[in-house]
Amino acid sequence: MRDLVAETRLHTSDLIAPLFVREGIDAPEPIGSLPGVVQHTVESLVTEVRELADLGVRSVMLFGVPAHKDAVGSGASDPDGIVQVALRELRSSLGDRVVLMADLCVDEYTDHGHCGIVRPDGSVDNDRTLDIYCAAALAQAAAGAHVVAPSGMMDGQVGAIRSALDSAGHDTTAMLAYSAKYASALYGPFRDAVDVTIADGGDRRGYQQDPRNARESLVEVAADIEQGADMVMVKPALAYLDVISAVRASVDLPLAAYHVSGEYAMVHAAAERGWIDGDAVMLEHLTSIRRAGADVILSYATRWFAEGAGGLR
Ligand code: PBG
Repeated sequence: MRDLVAETRLHTSDLIAPLFVREGIDAPEPIGSLPGVVQHTVESLVTEVRELADLGVRSVMLFGVPAHKDAVGSGASDPDGIVQVALRELRSSLGDRVVLMADLCVDEYTDHGHCGIVRPDGSVDNDRTLDIYCAAALAQAAAGAHVVAPSGMMDGQVGAIRSALDSAGHDTTAMLAYSAKYASALYGPFRDAVDVTIADGGDRRGYQQDPRNARESLVEVAADIEQGADMVMVKPALAYLDVISAVRASVDLPLAAYHVSGEYAMVHAAAERGWIDGDAVMLEHLTSIRRAGADVILSYATRWFAEGAGGLR
């Protein structure tokens, strides 16, 4: 009877798997702070995505780890950059079976680790960064991304990318905007996964949101929708369930929430010590993100859930 009247249901098809592909390796490499997650080769990535599709997963979000980084993150827009190579491979082996999303940012590709072009004084140049985001969007769309997902939090990024895509004939490439993205300490393991260290002990507080603000998220979301976003996102998820709920109440576009690396890693770390039941907590967390109002959840636990959530479903 509890199942019959449950208000919230979580399905494999609600989950998006974030996946890492690394240039220049010939076997997948585990990521210490993200148990069960690896940096893929292009080949192992294609296998992983095919297996996820067989398990009922509808979408993946790709992140690239380039062999070389530079000041402007050239690998993000190079047609032979690792994500573009991976997209072409995935699209040619899987066609439209899985929605291929590409994270659109440059921090994985810059030697200073910032999400944009850095001025001599260390600040990020918003408007010059828009040009390199547009170039990356065009490269991702040309390589076969169904969805590009700008995550750099530059003002005006959604509008600039939308017009660049449209002018190049990529008018059917959709956009998932990381709209309300906080300057969070919960991204730690992710930065291991993509080998990013922000130069000079810097942080992203100049462009990501202040955790003390909730109403600001509604302004950010509204701006992205006005500029042409097809789906919007709140990130991280668990510490921002109030934000998810407020955004849900104010918009009718599909709403995504990113259950980020730190949120995933904490459950594994506590479970390893025997302090919590990891499977039960993971399921409770994912369910609460849906209950707060997210339609889809990006989570490193996607495969675990699709395979039966440790026997809990
Ligand atoms: C930026 C980006 C980040 C994450 C996704 N896209 C890192 C950041 O903003 O520092 C974090 C995801 C996670 O922690 O799981 N390209």
